[in-house]
Amino acid sequence: MNRHASARPPMPRSVDEITASRRLRRMRKADWSRRLVRENHLTVDDLIWPIFLIDGENRREEIAAMPGVFRLTVDMAVREAERAAKLGIPAIATFPNVELALRDRTATEMLNPDNLINRATRAIKAAVPEIGVITDAALDPFTDHGHDGILSEGVVVNDESVERITAGAVLQAAAGADIVAPSDMMDGRIGAIRDALDAAGFQDVAIMSYATKFASAFYGPYREAIGTGGLLKGDKKTYYLDHANTDEAMREIEQDLEEGADMVMVKPGLPYLDIIRRARDEFAVPTFAYQVSGEYAMIEAAAANGWIDGEKAMLESLMAFKRAGCDGVLTYFAPRVAEILKG
Ligand code: PBG
Repeated sequence: MNRHASARPPMPRSVDEITASRRLRRMRKADWSRRLVRENHLTVDDLIWPIFLIDGENRREEIAAMPGVFRLTVDMAVREAERAAKLGIPAIATFPNVELALRDRTATEMLNPDNLINRATRAIKAAVPEIGVITDAALDPFTDHGHDGILSEGVVVNDESVERITAGAVLQAAAGADIVAPSDMMDGRIGAIRDALDAAGFQDVAIMSYATKFASAFYGPYREAIGTGGLLKGDKKTYYLDHANTDEAMREIEQDLEEGADMVMVKPGLPYLDIIRRARDEFAVPTFAYQVSGEYAMIEAAAANGWIDGEKAMLESLMAFKRAGCDGVLTYFAPRVAEILKG
């Protein structure tokens, strides 16, 4: 006789026995109970709206790879800033598409107090003083090679780049920027900018560091937006973070905070939620994400094809940033989200 065959088969446990009656679906059963136990909330206070600038008047150009996003002349940007303020969006971030004739090897135009980004800041702060203005303290809109630094014999040279970015950042503060946001990943830039701002009397101008900016394929549409796509040769791997690295990203944040950054940013956003969570846990400082152009384009493209519900995907992606520990998000969806949240 087979002894096993005679053994009693184990009785399958009931679900009550398995869960010991801890049934997590109880709180999910209705909208009211889901709302009651919801851990994270997306509000208009979480939004920073990046806008693109062009020269001229009363004109806007749609960006092909970013449907619904436009390059705006300064007067139009002022109107959009007014709309943003009415919607309760706390801050906008400006990115200029500079005329090609004004771009050169060393980004000279960044040192023009009346360049496009500074003119926009003045106009926006004059018309809508209650909205925060964050300026991109970056050389790439002004260089004829599209790099975020000064090129010398094919190499992006660190210290000369820092010097130029710092001078440009002080001019941005003088134009009225509330926050300057260096996005170049040069070593030592935060400390240099902090010193220069203080020396020029701009102690109250804050620095949002693009502390962990990764070399990423997700910036593609942005380069079309500011017109650097055709100019850039090679890549930005010698200065942006290797996207395989996490510990190095933490070292960048630590260093930027020591040098005087008031807030830090992780960029891109959605593919880097692990970096956001770790930054939040390790440093507990104001932490932001940039949901970049490629992330926007992916959602828009899939939605346009009817493959996903664009509005739901947009809101879900933004909630992911909150869940990961962000205080706020730079997102091209900002006005659309603000409208929805307003009801
Ligand atoms: C560079 C800069 C970039 C973005 C903002 N500032 C990327 C780059 O070209 O390296 C990307 C923003 C986006 O993709 O939405 N100063």
